[in-house]
Amino acid sequence: MSSQSRVVAVIGASGVQGLSVVNALLDTFPVHAYTRDASKLKHLSHPNLTVVEVDINDSTALKAALKNGVWALFANNLSDYTKPIGAEEALGKNIVDAAAEAGVEWLVYSSMPEGNPFRAFVEKSNVMKYAREVTKRSQLKNVFVEVGAYMSNSQGNKPVLNPADGVVEFTWIAIDAQTYLPLISTDTDLGPIVKAVLQNPDEWNDAEIPVVADPLTVTQMAEVYSKVYNVPTRVKFLEHAPPGLPFGSIMEDLLGSFKDPGYFPAYVGREREIAQIAKRLFPGVRTWETYLREVGLDYIKN
Ligand SMILES: NC(=O)c1ccc[n+]([C@@H]2O[C@H](COP(=O)([O-])OP(=O)(O)OC[C@H]3O[C@@H](n4cnc5c(N)ncnc54)[C@H](OP(=O)(O)O)[C@@H]3O)[C@@H](O)[C@H]2O)c1
Repeated sequence: MSSQSRVVAVIGASGVQGLSVVNALLDTFPVHAYTRDASKLKHLSHPNLTVVEVDINDSTALKAALKNGVWALFANNLSDYTKPIGAEEALGKNIVDAAAEAGVEWLVYSSMPEGNPFRAFVEKSNVMKYAREVTKRSQLKNVFVEVGAYMSNSQGNKPVLNPADGVVEFTWIAIDAQTYLPLISTDTDLGPIVKAVLQNPDEWNDAEIPVVADPLTVTQMAEVYSKVYNVPTRVKFLEHAPPGLPFGSIMEDLLGSFKDPGYFPAYVGREREIAQIAKRLFPGVRTWETYLREVGLDYIKN
């Protein structure tokens, strides 16, 4: 079967992860881009693109959409922290069931590493375990991508110039100088990694792929920033979220889990190795330095 006859459906196609995948696949695969609102994808135009309006909470509608000749499904289900614990896992399992029942051959599920206690990690890795069970009683085969910390998150936590001494300060909560952030430029680099997987899926059957380009501590991130922007930097670590920070306690739990047991618990003590698989699949992944040079991260001058 040529790649031109292998339809890939993408859940979350208007979001950071899904759009990265859609953009990377379009020149090679027919893509069915799923969204609740087709107008969100009106900026995309390509002969291989079909935009499909579907709400993934409606498993009957999802299954019907997948029955339209879908060969592979990229699925990213959202973490909605306003919903009770368990909702994300239930939604993920419904997606797996819909894919299996619709006859999809490959599921590329955006999971999270096992062993981290934060709710999204636990729920997504439970979906991964469930998908492994479903493969035993269906035609479905899985590949799991485990996306690291988005470099673009830094735009929501910009460094600030301290007017007293001219040092640009990075402030982080709940982590310390030894904590690694497994960085990835998700919008540009997840898609090419998924494309490489789908061009040779048998090699990656049942694999867990850390989607990470540059695992760095915040101190190392600040040092790179110093070099790129030619400014002195320092890092401040706060034990707790400042009062009034939106989702402050959730952020504390999330970042605290990066400190202990680590974002990728299986790689503690050998963090630099996390990036090897992603670099093999897509040698052009952005480092933190490349991200700063190509995208930029302004510091705030008070
Ligand atoms: N930020 C990080 O550093 C990071 C790192 C690793 C993993 N993650 C995980 O990434 C996930 C978020 O992914 P993202 O950044 O790509 O999110 P995003 O940019 O906010 O996009 C969310 C997507 O989900 C779709 N969606 C939501 N509800 C839907 C529904 N009922 N039916 C159909 N589509 C629906 C939206 O589509 P429409 O609105 O178009 O329908 C949209 O395309 C979270 O689970 C998070 O845990 C984040």
